[in-house]
Amino acid sequence: MKPEIIVALDYSELEPVKGIVESVGDAVNWYKVGLELFVSCGPDALSYLADKGKKVFLDLKFHDIPNTVSKVCLSSLKYGVSMMNMHVQGGEEMMKTAVDKVSESAGDKRPLMLGVTVLTSLDENHLSQYGIVTPDTASYVLKLAEIAKRAGMDGVVSSAKETQIIKENLGEDFITVTPGIRPASASVDDQKRVVTPADARQMGTDYIVVGRPITKADNPKEAAEAIKEEMGWTD
Ligand code: C5P
Repeated sequence: MKPEIIVALDYSELEPVKGIVESVGDAVNWYKVGLELFVSCGPDALSYLADKGKKVFLDLKFHDIPNTVSKVCLSSLKYGVSMMNMHVQGGEEMMKTAVDKVSESAGDKRPLMLGVTVLTSLDENHLSQYGIVTPDTASYVLKLAEIAKRAGMDGVVSSAKETQIIKENLGEDFITVTPGIRPASASVDDQKRVVTPADARQMGTDYIVVGRPITKADNPKEAAEAIKEEMGWTD
């Protein structure tokens, strides 16, 4: 069923991570390990999630020269991650080199490789400050997504707002992963542009990244089940 939930493990210690994964149980298969957890206890967290049979989105947003990024992508393979990402701004050659090297090494077991387009914390003022001339943010996101696709990437991380334009122009198979999800009843926290799970599904996104609405819930498993229900999952 689409979209699949990826729970963001934004922690700096392993204990709360174990608590969440135990309590959510089989309601969720995917977890996101970002910079905070990775810098604090990355290898232990990744081994723990692999032992639990969970799929991992390694959200480290690589951005460096092609040689460095392709090597760190290759190093990520030892953890058996299922998805990783890098900034599209790092360049077409950076992305292409990384995809080629990882494909060469992992063959058909290659993790999904995604481009980060424009962070949702940045807006049109940021683009104009940096001299980027574009009619609007969505057009620029689409331009970056096109470059990612040309480089061989599987998809992009984008706000739900841009999912439709990306799918329309780059095809249904080009994956979109969408953070900023809030069930209708949940607090928005510090997120500015949120969409509900039902809207995200309707917009056609493939994966939704959900952190606090699940990790801070009194009952994380029930919170995850409620989101699935809101998206029309039937199992
Ligand atoms: O708790 P919450 O659901 O807001 O967590 C969202 C997760 O998605 C966090 O790990 C955050 O860093 C990440 N993210 C985001 N917006 C982006 C990119 C990543 O919220 N544009």
